[in-house]
Amino acid sequence: MTEPLLQVEDLSISFPSAMGLVRIVDDISFSVGREVVALVGESGSGKSMTGRAIMGLLPSRAKVAAARLSFDGHDLTAEKGWNSLRGSGLGLILQDPKYSLNPAHRIGRQVEETLLLHTRLSAAERRERALDMLDKVGLPDASRIYSSYPAALSGGMGQRVMIAAMLINRPKLLIADEPTSALDRELQDQILTLLRSLSEELGMGLLLISHDLQQVSRYADRVMVMRRGRIDEQMASADLANARSDYTRALWAARPSAATYGTRLPVYGEQP
Ligand SMILES: Nc1ncnc2c1ncn2[C@@H]1O[C@H](COP(=O)(O)OP(=O)(O)O)[C@@H](O)[C@H]1O
Ligand SMILES: [Mg+2]
Repeated sequence: MTEPLLQVEDLSISFPSAMGLVRIVDDISFSVGREVVALVGESGSGKSMTGRAIMGLLPSRAKVAAARLSFDGHDLTAEKGWNSLRGSGLGLILQDPKYSLNPAHRIGRQVEETLLLHTRLSAAERRERALDMLDKVGLPDASRIYSSYPAALSGGMGQRVMIAAMLINRPKLLIADEPTSALDRELQDQILTLLRSLSEELGMGLLLISHDLQQVSRYADRVMVMRRGRIDEQMASADLANARSDYTRALWAARPSAATYGTRLPVYGEQP
């Protein structure tokens, strides 16, 4: 058996608070190979902090401990490795919108940025790769988009541009933290389908972080269910209907049925 790309062993994350250190991720272990794995759990369960710990992007107040945090043979806890790994072998799409596109720069420049930083490709080669990637993420008229500014794009197109920027240097592993949460349902499914097929085409591992078990399990080979900083259960997506943990069963049962899909959910305090 080949080594998994990402290996996480006994990872814990704590923050100082008025009541001392508060543990928000508690001794979790998992690995991800060239496959699609979903990390799911309700809001606040520690999913984003786990993704950020892998990338070295936690706030400096956070205390991180791990028996092992390795990516493709590199020790991620050795501080020096962080920057060179970012944008090359390890890619990240963050949930936080403040890391989205810069309105002052043309799309092409932003999509090519990691090639500029991490390769010796010429300007013409970078442009060719960027146009090819814009095309791959399903954007029509790539050369027009290449020279446009972000304001000219819809939200869904902007999301595709960000995915193109993250995939252009062919990461071995992409961590996507709620990559579609700002989009409408139909676009979410399109983007998840795209990420899934690109991961197959490029042989890329994908760690898909989401609060929506029902939705992401359709695109993932395996799911890891996180609850209050711990991994409650890990299983193949195909086995979800037989989940052992009550929590997994509850998340699974929360899926919209044909009867409720598309109808408005009740709002607390609203008059009927
Ligand atoms: N900067 C911070 N300082 C202290 N606690 C934080 C900070 N950011 C998030 N937390 C806490 O960490 C927990 C996990 O957060 P997060 O990983 O963002 O959850 P998720 O992505 O699963 O919704 C939450 O309970 C949150 O209150
Ligand atoms: Mg989150």
